[in-house]
Amino acid sequence: MIITDTPSEAEAERLLKLLMNVECDPHGRTWNLETCREIAPLTLEINRLKREKNAVILAHSYVEPEIIYGVADFRGDSYYLSVQAKQSQAAIIVFAGVVFMAETAKILSPAATVVVPDRGSGCSLADSITGEDVRKMKAVYPGAPVVCYINSTAEVKAESDVCVTSGNVYDIVANLPGRRLLFVPDRLMAENVRAEMKRRGVDKEIISSDGTCLVHDEFTPAQIAEARAQFPGLKVVAHPECTPEVAALADFVGSTGAMMKYVKTSNAPYYLMLTECGLVGRLEVEAPEKNFIGGCRLCPYMKLNSLEKILQALKAPRADQIVTLDEDLRQKAQRCIDRMFELAPQD
Ligand code: 13P
Ligand code: SF4
Repeated sequence: MIITDTPSEAEAERLLKLLMNVECDPHGRTWNLETCREIAPLTLEINRLKREKNAVILAHSYVEPEIIYGVADFRGDSYYLSVQAKQSQAAIIVFAGVVFMAETAKILSPAATVVVPDRGSGCSLADSITGEDVRKMKAVYPGAPVVCYINSTAEVKAESDVCVTSGNVYDIVANLPGRRLLFVPDRLMAENVRAEMKRRGVDKEIISSDGTCLVHDEFTPAQIAEARAQFPGLKVVAHPECTPEVAALADFVGSTGAMMKYVKTSNAPYYLMLTECGLVGRLEVEAPEKNFIGGCRLCPYMKLNSLEKILQALKAPRADQIVTLDEDLRQKAQRCIDRMFELAPQD
């Protein structure tokens, strides 16, 4: 006799309803009842432990769909997740994303125990510059405000005047007093900001450091031209971490949250998403009527998250999975993020 109404079977069916349209999977899995049955015991146990321990899971849209739809309490982009961390009353925050995001959560929610499933989940942007490097830039350009993209370490935030996200960077830079500013760590985003300031007629001198995102710096104008030739009516949707040449050819450039909104509210037949593949997975779930053509790439750091690691970290986090920050540094970094919330109360 086949028993179909066990909690695990009901969970597998819940997961299948959510995941059945996901084609863009980092492991090449097909989401069917079998694959959902395999993960159902894990999601059930994680969700039970969350309740028992007063924990929440924040997940960036780039992590795997079984995390986003199986166990996450909040899913979204860096700005949205920072707001959730700031407002959280939970005792434990598990951050399924990358380490700089978990650090940001700890900066904004210092009383919570903030846990990362994998300490190796870095970011090519955040890891491209240290606090000492920022101090050296400030010594060369005394008095110029430092704008740091949120993809930066707590140490870099502590040395900066205002934080920005991919959603508010243009408005915050445009409204900063003074002409000259230092921008860290994303050289390509700085180039996109320069282009946007020119377009808006805002006179700014932007001096940037040299980091790039290893996912977004790979997209090319040739890829866009090829896709447009093959799919008439195609919309190209890009993240501001892409090169300015790519951004100039896109129909829309914005944060991952804004990219999702753009696709959901537009009625084009095809979309080329110039960002990490996880976002396409989210759209396959939330906008199943849309067609996505190839182009997306994987962030190896985001993909270090897994249900198994989340379960282990919730049960008994190892010391290396718990985010700790020096209190003086945390307060300085918080000032930089709070300034962003003052200047951009909404993304
Ligand atoms: P968003 O804040 O737009 O989600 O960007 C985060 C990120 O890491 C992009 O690579
Ligand atoms: Fe960092 Fe790029 Fe990965 Fe985003 S996609 S976390 S910017 S390496």
